[in-house]
Formats: sequence, structure tokens, C-alpha cells
Amino acid sequence: MTILLLGADGQVGFELHRALAPVAPIVATTRKGVLPGGIACTRLDLADADALRALIETTQPRWIVNAAAYTAVDRAEDEPELAQRINGDALAVIGAAAKRIDARVVHYSTDYVFAGAANQPWREDDATGPLGAYGRSKLAGEIALRESGATHLIFRTAWVYGPRGANFLRTMLRLARERDRLTIVADQFGTPTPARLIAETTALIVHALQDARTDDARFGTYHLTANGHTTWHGFASRIIDHAHTSGLIERKPEVAAITTEQFPTKAKRPGYSVLDTSKLQSTFGLALPDWTEGLARVMGELNP
Ligand SMILES: NC(=O)c1ccc[n+]([C@@H]2O[C@H](COP(=O)([O-])OP(=O)(O)OC[C@H]3O[C@@H](n4cnc5c(N)ncnc54)[C@H](OP(=O)(O)O)[C@@H]3O)[C@@H](O)[C@H]2O)c1
Repeated sequence: MTILLLGADGQVGFELHRALAPVAPIVATTRKGVLPGGIACTRLDLADADALRALIETTQPRWIVNAAAYTAVDRAEDEPELAQRINGDALAVIGAAAKRIDARVVHYSTDYVFAGAANQPWREDDATGPLGAYGRSKLAGEIALRESGATHLIFRTAWVYGPRGANFLRTMLRLARERDRLTIVADQFGTPTPARLIAETTALIVHALQDARTDDARFGTYHLTANGHTTWHGFASRIIDHAHTSGLIERKPEVAAITTEQFPTKAKRPGYSVLDTSKLQSTFGLALPDWTEGLARVMGELNP
């Protein structure tokens, strides 16, 4: 009943390592062969298809949980082949190997598979239309995994953050200490989602499906974010308010709203990428918390 966890040092991977521990024994991999905290683990680069295949064959896991990904959205515009290799091609390898040994695959995808011209939350079966290389590579991974025929769960998530790793929350806290005025995009809508919420929800679902047959209708694609939505400006404003109230920052900088046009980035981002999570909540009987609740919890863990 082993779980093979790929990418155990990313935001979600780190939280999965803890959350999945009570479910089954875990074989964890990172690109450096070291876990956060310095403990050695299996070294694996997803770009190495032979090593990936061999590791799955020798580990014979019941579950493969893939938290590794090429997540540099802007850099992907300059190296789309590498993004495709890690986010797309590796999923064909994982899928084929999983199918051979009858393992179940858990994989994460993104709101950036959608084009963003909408005014109501995206549902799982809505038409995709990624705007950039990262979104295209993640969509390619979804398709490769489905086409492999492996039993799988794909969780599309969004705006991931937590107390560690590279994320918007940590960037805002740093900038708040350095600047008097922050200018933040106020015309992109989405849902900030704690990495821990993704990991804990995954663990509940993996546990619920431990004995499920491969043809169980609950396998498939789901949207997994916190509830509600905001803009980057709304997210930043709340972060700064919390940080000031709790003493994380001494002085509150101004948080000014700007448009996407005023903040050009290499990769185009969807204007509206709120995901409808009702399929996940009704299938597994879960109640996902509002994003503001999630933020309060994460900020409660940060030390002044
Ligand atoms: N972050 C977001 O806002 C967001 C939004 C929507 C969806 N998602 C999806 O959610 C999942 C988890 O994202 P995250 O936020 O936890 O990402 P993250 O913090 O950037 O972590 C990514 C992990 O992938 C590893 N990785 C990168 N290239 C690799 C390679 N060639 N071989 C092996 N490992 C490699 C990284 O290892 P190194 O430390 O060695 O680089 C890191 O452990 C991903 O599938 C991502 O696409 C994320």
C-alpha cells in the first residue's frame, strides 16, 4: 500500500508528506535527493523518463502522487520545451507505468488551463484554452494522464500559498517591510488556496478511495480551491491588514489598485479563473472553507 510522492519539497508536496503519513507508508522524492529539514530521500528529476519509469517499477506503489511541476509561469514562455517535458511528457510516462502495475495516480493541474473570459466559476467540463506556455504544458499533462488509461484523480487548483515556498503571501510580507506603497493588480479574479488545504483534502480522498475499484466513478477530474473569490489586490489588502494587526509588520503600506495593463508580465494570465468546486464537495461530502478563513489560519502560523 505504498504511496510514491513526487516533489516532496514544493509547497503542496511538503504538506502532502505530512498529510499522507497516516494513510500509508510513503516513498518521497525530490530533485535534490533531500527533504526540507535535511533528511535524505530518493532523488528524481521528472525530465529523466527512464529514471521515473524505473522508480515506479521498483517501488510498486499503490498510489503515485505527483506534486512536482514546472511552475515558473513567466519563465515557461522562454523555455516551453522544458515545461512541456516536466508538466506534459512526464505524465504520459507516469500514466503508462501506473497502468502497468495497477497504481492509482493523483496529479495537480491549474486554473491557467482556462482562457479567463468568464463571469461565473469554471466547471470541470468547460472548454479549456490556456493563454501561455505553462497552461499549455499543464493541459498537455492532464490529457496525457487521461489517455494513458491509468486510474487517476486530477485536482485543478489555483493561487497556492502557504507559510513556506515562493508565493504571493510571502512576497507581500517582504514588500510590506521594504516599501511604503504596493501596487497590485485588481482586475484578475481567483481564489487563494492554502497548500495545506490541498494536501489535507487529497489525503481524505485517497483514504476514502483506498479500496475503490479502478472503475469507481469517483476517480476523475476535480476543481480543488478554497471557497469564494477575490482579486490579487483584495488578497494583498487582507494580508497587509492581518500582518499589521498581528504584529508581523510594524507599519501598513498603502495598497494601490492597478490594472493588468499597468503590470505587464511575460505570460498572459486569465482575467477570471475562479473554479467551481461543487463537484468535489458533493462527491466526497466535503465543505471547503472560505479563502479568508484559510488565510487567517496560515497567517496564524507565521512568527512575528
Ligand atoms: N503555485 C500555484 O499558485 C499553483 C496554481 C495552480 C496549480 N498549481 C499546481 O499545483 C501543483 C503544486 O504546485 P506548488 O505550488 O506546490 O509548486 P512549487 O512550490 O513550485 O513546487 C514544485 C515542485 O516541483 C519540483 N520540480 C520542479 N521541476 C522538477 C523536475 N524537473 N523534476 C522533479 N521535480 C521538479 C520542485 O523542485 P525544486 O525545489 O527542486 O525546484 C518543487 O518541489 C503543481 O502541479 C502546480 O502546477 C500551482
